[in-house]
Amino acid sequence: MSFRLQTTKARASTLKLPHGDVPLPIFMPVATQASLKGLTYDQLRETGCMLCLNNTYHLGLKPGQAVLDAVGGAHKLQSWDRNLLTDSGGFQMVSLLELATVTEEGVRFLSPHDGSPMLLTPEHSISLQNSIGSDIIMQLDDVIATTSPDHARIKEAMDRSVRWLDRCIEEHKYPERQNLFCIIQGGLDLELRKQCCEQMVARDTPGIAIGGLSGGEAKEEFCKVVDTCTGLLPENKPRYVMGVGYPEDIVVAVALGADMFDCVWPTRTARFGDAIVSSGTLKISHKVYADDFRPVEEGCTCVCCRSTDQGGLGLTRAYMHHITAKETVGAHLLTIHNVHYMLNMMKNIRQAILDDQYPAFLRKFFSDIYGGDK
Ligand code: GUN
Ligand code: ZN
Repeated sequence: MSFRLQTTKARASTLKLPHGDVPLPIFMPVATQASLKGLTYDQLRETGCMLCLNNTYHLGLKPGQAVLDAVGGAHKLQSWDRNLLTDSGGFQMVSLLELATVTEEGVRFLSPHDGSPMLLTPEHSISLQNSIGSDIIMQLDDVIATTSPDHARIKEAMDRSVRWLDRCIEEHKYPERQNLFCIIQGGLDLELRKQCCEQMVARDTPGIAIGGLSGGEAKEEFCKVVDTCTGLLPENKPRYVMGVGYPEDIVVAVALGADMFDCVWPTRTARFGDAIVSSGTLKISHKVYADDFRPVEEGCTCVCCRSTDQGGLGLTRAYMHHITAKETVGAHLLTIHNVHYMLNMMKNIRQAILDDQYPAFLRKFFSDIYGGDK
């Protein structure tokens, strides 16, 4: 059976931020430690990236708030004059540190540096993000695995995230230059998601994130949550689905009305020797590429794939195969290609929406991967 998708909820727009305009929908690469692993900021600029992520938890530990204040924030620290978004830190602690525990006060954890007990409260997270000076800052939220069977705990986390949002709003010193986003929680329970949307939308933050996904839930559940939330959110505010970065998930979430995405996957997978291409991913370390003299992706305009007469490096799969296993530069080059791939895909998505051709874009996108519809 074949059917035609006539309309979607996909939107294209421009987000105005202090460090430049950001075309939506957008994918944001993750530079956790104020550096995108394997790339200089020059190279990141060259991919056209207008907005990337840092993490409050990591920057708060090192270089720490005093250094951030002394240097005048993370833009100056990194010499990055485009936009930054910081995640609030709680999610990273709970996912990275086994010993993190959540109470109404905040998230308690042991410092990974010296094992001393620490507490991240909504107030402290916002104060750190004020010192970082990021253009978009995130509320501290109570996140639990979407696949958790504990309904009472999921509801508690949702209600607590609303209370923590109020504490974040109260603490935030620079609402005119740093946009605070709330984060919708509620697990896979659509009723809880609805209640959370209602309460958070009433707080009128400049943007809204959908959290608690990307945790291994079934695709169908993921879609239902995104669809339910976008159906209840105001049209005129950006919607950010956190931690989502597989191309298939992004194109579907865009169809459901989401605008912003981030994930470590494209850069992490590059370090493992995987190149993202329109047919899926290539394991460059596989021996079939040892004598494959095509670029990583035909027609890709990244500096690695672009020919030398077009000012690129004109590198082949054979060369990438040759260096990937042993040389760190192989990982750097694949990182450039993968970030370029993601940003270029977002550009194509945006153009298709503007041309009113998004259903056709989706058909071609999935047919390139799965070979259907031919
Ligand atoms: N990154 C991925 N998912 C989440 C989430 O639910 N909350 C936060 N703060 N960060 C995330
Ligand atoms: Zn390329």
